[in-house]
Amino acid sequence: MQCFPFRLVLIAFVFLDSVDNVNAGITSRYTGKEWPAVDIPLDHEVFAVPKGHNAPQQVHITQGNYDGNAVIISWVTFGEPGFSEVQYGTSDKNYEFTAQGKMTNYTFYEYESGYIHHVLVDGLKFDTKYYYKIGNGDSAREFWFRTPPMIGPDVPYKFGIIGDLGQTYNSLSTLEHYMESGAQSVLFLGDLSYADRYQYNDVGIRWDSWGRFVERSTAYQPWIWCAGNHEIEYMPYMNEVVPFKSYLYRYPTPHLASMSSSPMWYAIRRASAHIIVLSNYSPFVKYTPQYLWLNEELENVDRENTPWLIVLMHVPMYNSNEEHFMEGESMRAVFEEWFVNHKVDVIFAGHVHAYERSYRISNIRYDVSSGERYPVPDESAPLYITVGDGGNSEGLAGRFRDPQPNYSAFREASYGHSTLEIMNRTHAFYHWNRNDEGKKVPTDSFVLHNQFWPSNVQESKLRKHNLSVLGRIASELKR
Ligand SMILES: [Fe+2]
Repeated sequence: MQCFPFRLVLIAFVFLDSVDNVNAGITSRYTGKEWPAVDIPLDHEVFAVPKGHNAPQQVHITQGNYDGNAVIISWVTFGEPGFSEVQYGTSDKNYEFTAQGKMTNYTFYEYESGYIHHVLVDGLKFDTKYYYKIGNGDSAREFWFRTPPMIGPDVPYKFGIIGDLGQTYNSLSTLEHYMESGAQSVLFLGDLSYADRYQYNDVGIRWDSWGRFVERSTAYQPWIWCAGNHEIEYMPYMNEVVPFKSYLYRYPTPHLASMSSSPMWYAIRRASAHIIVLSNYSPFVKYTPQYLWLNEELENVDRENTPWLIVLMHVPMYNSNEEHFMEGESMRAVFEEWFVNHKVDVIFAGHVHAYERSYRISNIRYDVSSGERYPVPDESAPLYITVGDGGNSEGLAGRFRDPQPNYSAFREASYGHSTLEIMNRTHAFYHWNRNDEGKKVPTDSFVLHNQFWPSNVQESKLRKHNLSVLGRIASELKR
């Protein structure tokens, strides 16, 4: 019988081996069942409108500034505007403070949105539970959230990662599984409501139902938003041609805090992580605002304070599924070299309705006139992880390319979500959990090693070794 420490070493070796080296990848033989991939009917209790006259609904919060001691609280009222006011404090039912925000609304075809409220609540203490109240009289509603610890190199923190969620029975399962995970904030990878699969006034109605559906999580912890193609809603047949209209009215981001010119791309720092959110559907080639901003933001990353550098985008740069194959190639050509040079730890994407994880590889030596044309092992490269499997009404992307390319480490066409539990500056635990017909099954997991700190440790060890060798040589020469 193997003793426990030996088994631990063995497991660690398997983890290390699976993450850091290029071996034959695994295509899981398990394929998720299309356990009804249809939207939940509007009269289902998951979309229930809160009771009371003009009661706030679709409550959601996101980080409100660069370092996490502010939140933006958003909600919708129908019937009357009400007040864009949040009462809040650090003890239940005792709201010492008030913050005011603004109200907005929009039309989409003949649909008229409710009154959409956004309130920035800032100047908060770090690592503190806050209670908040919105709405008036008997219809007022109360929630709470916890601010993250102040940023620092060894601050533990657990993120959830969800993409392409939609509002089906599979989406509900993913959301419930995520909420059991104990994670503190969601990194959302784009394609929120899939309301654009509807027409005319039903588009707005399905944005509202989605807001009520996710409220069970979004009212209590920040979801960090990234836009996908289903947010574009370019629908000329009903005279709707302003891209991202519903998304931008409803889901604000703290883009000004990171000097971004658009809510579509921005960065935040949270606990020990620096998180960069990009937009595949906004210009990103040389000289565009997104390109110039990313160039600056990567220079701002301080790995001494935030060792974990995480990038979110909707379209994967490495994907071996037939669905959306090569769609991330244009962004890869522009940004991959920066990601490798800056030692990004991990890049999460959605879009493909399946799960896939890469080895550490890069394809930055290739140019149109010469160079290696294939991705090669590269210890400085990020891991690429596709988690586009939240469970929307389009169903799973079940056809992977055959044979499995060398860059692909593990792939499976199932619904699910991931968690990234940062332990300190050097290690984080990663899990992908499959939805197996409503059951949560941990399926892909490994220890993620930080790309910046291990190399420093190795370099300092090497420096010490070299100095001691030089010292020995010097003392021998003196004799
Ligand atoms: Fe998508």
